[in-house]
Amino acid sequence: KRDVYILGIETSCDETAASIVKNGNEIISNVVASQIESQKRFGGVVPEIASRHHVEEITLVIEKALDDAGLAPSQLNAVAVTEGPGLVGALLIGINAAKAFAFANALPIIGVHHIAGHIYANQLVQPMEFPLLALIVSGGHTEMVIMREHGSFELIGETRDDAAGEAYDKVARVLGLPYPGGPHVDKLALASESAVEFPRAWLEADSYDFSFSGLKSSVINYKHNLEQRGGILDAEAVAAGFQQSVVEVLTVKAVRAAKEYDVKQVIAAGGVSANRGLRNSLESTFAKEHIPFSVPPIALCTDNAAMIAAAGTQMYLSNVRGDLSMNGRPGMQL
Ligand code: KG4
Ligand code: ZN
Repeated sequence: KRDVYILGIETSCDETAASIVKNGNEIISNVVASQIESQKRFGGVVPEIASRHHVEEITLVIEKALDDAGLAPSQLNAVAVTEGPGLVGALLIGINAAKAFAFANALPIIGVHHIAGHIYANQLVQPMEFPLLALIVSGGHTEMVIMREHGSFELIGETRDDAAGEAYDKVARVLGLPYPGGPHVDKLALASESAVEFPRAWLEADSYDFSFSGLKSSVINYKHNLEQRGGILDAEAVAAGFQQSVVEVLTVKAVRAAKEYDVKQVIAAGGVSANRGLRNSLESTFAKEHIPFSVPPIALCTDNAAMIAAAGTQMYLSNVRGDLSMNGRPGMQL
């Protein structure tokens, strides 16, 4: 059988990324131009600025992905690009670059859902076994999805308010940490010897939904009350308490879902799955339950294009094709 080489392109938020993946599971090149330094000044992603960065970087990033791989466009089978969800202006830069590249090189174009990409990042580490539970935790998403076969996604729970990463970023801001706050809160939490007790949002007993805005408010209130009393904030203990609450809820609900759906494998995906507290908790808990668990290396948890190429390869093999009328879909459903 001939090898399949897919060029992946990702520009849905603040990383301009291109990657070439062989047979859906082997990274040949992986280029990510991050805008974090620039977004830091504004404490978050400003859509218009993100788009401008993408315009500046996209051609260079695609060229570098081809150069690093030592491949000519004619050796590729298709171009896979994030079609949604995300910032519409940002998505369009990647989609238009993908269309131009596909048209110029007579290649098919495939539109990939960003979250499918995060899930398929795991395919770069080990093959998927179905049925599978995916816990997706990122800046924009907190979802649990059951997959019974490639390309099929059944949403069983999601956040009712803030995404986990969003809560991390907001709490980081309250603690005076730079954007994006997740990794900073993670570091403080792991360094702490004590933890402030914050509530857990379990919701209804049988629910797989999540809620993180109440927890975020608890942190804000805690800081406010402490300051009113003239107390000094122990940022490490607050970070540790916040992280314990997030990690415990995510772990307990994931284990309950894995058992109820009798899955063969659990995977974690998305930026927050880079969190060391969460990785440790999921790894040790699923080991105790004898349920196989995997999470990609940290660089493949946050936004990248290898994951888009990996998901795109599966779609390519299933004969899914887009065309040059592709548009950015900010609210795209999985
Ligand atoms: O998947 P991602 O790169 O972009 C989205 O699709 O949203 O996720 C970014 C999110 C940010 O909220 C960031 O703070 C969070 O992932 N994040 C973390 C860690 N690393 C990144 N959150 C907690 N702990 C981390 N180590
Ligand atoms: Zn993402």
